[in-house]
Amino acid sequence: MHPALARLARPEYPRSSTYDPEWLTASDMGPNPLWLLEDLAKDLDLRPGMRVLDLGSGKGATSVFLAREFGVQVWAADLWVSPEDVLPTLERFDVTSSVTPIKAEAHALPFATGFFDVIVCIDAFEYFGTADTYLPYLVRFLRPEGQLAIATPALRRDPRELGGIPAHIRECVRWEALSWHPADWWRFHWETTELVTVTAARMQESGWQDWLTWAEVGDALRGESDGLSVTMLRADAGELLTFALVTARKVG
Ligand SMILES: C[S@@+](CC[C@H](N)C(=O)[O-])C[C@H]1O[C@@H](n2cnc3c(N)ncnc32)[C@H](O)[C@@H]1O
Repeated sequence: MHPALARLARPEYPRSSTYDPEWLTASDMGPNPLWLLEDLAKDLDLRPGMRVLDLGSGKGATSVFLAREFGVQVWAADLWVSPEDVLPTLERFDVTSSVTPIKAEAHALPFATGFFDVIVCIDAFEYFGTADTYLPYLVRFLRPEGQLAIATPALRRDPRELGGIPAHIRECVRWEALSWHPADWWRFHWETTELVTVTAARMQESGWQDWLTWAEVGDALRGESDGLSVTMLRADAGELLTFALVTARKVG
């Protein structure tokens, strides 16, 4: 095992630390999705048998985690990654009977109204979820009192308030950081619809350090130094960059 992988075993994330770091880093599509989900789940009530939509599930790591750690039934919906490419992961973790991978676009979801108890979205909502009309669309798939939870990259001050995207962030992700809103932005955006009650909206305290650790490990595995993400995060020094963890319940 590459020595850098030892940095991924973290006492703050006891459940995530039980997963093979070689497998996890090979599924890399962004910051460690298991750390984000493990933290976000503290603000959720997940019970065995619940129907959970993992929206923007990528290569399936979070869907495996949801099924194994909480005993829920998961629909793993993603646009860029095909179900055939997720299947080997589901087989490896013996969760083919509890995770259903689906190719789906977030604005055209193939589910029945009120079908889900919970919708979880890890590091994906920023790609499709900021339009004023999106939350009203998405919550139709939740039952009354159903829960919505996102973990999404965030700036501690909104890009609009900053007057633009700071140079060290723009150099890495360009305009994409326009959707990296702080937790309070999401709270207002969601609560104003009166369709949900926000149950928690926090900026992840460990988010910048976690993201940097993950990016440094990725660089070490690739034999690189100072990749784009590491450069951005070091320049930021934890001033702006972290994650917004936001959870809500659909009004009954
Ligand atoms: C950064 S990856 C994160 C994947 C996974 N949640 C994780 O954390 O490893 C973002 C994911 O969002 C998905 N995505 C982006 N736009 C989407 C859309 N319009 N509909 C559905 N999924 C989308 C992509 O397919 C991609 O897998």
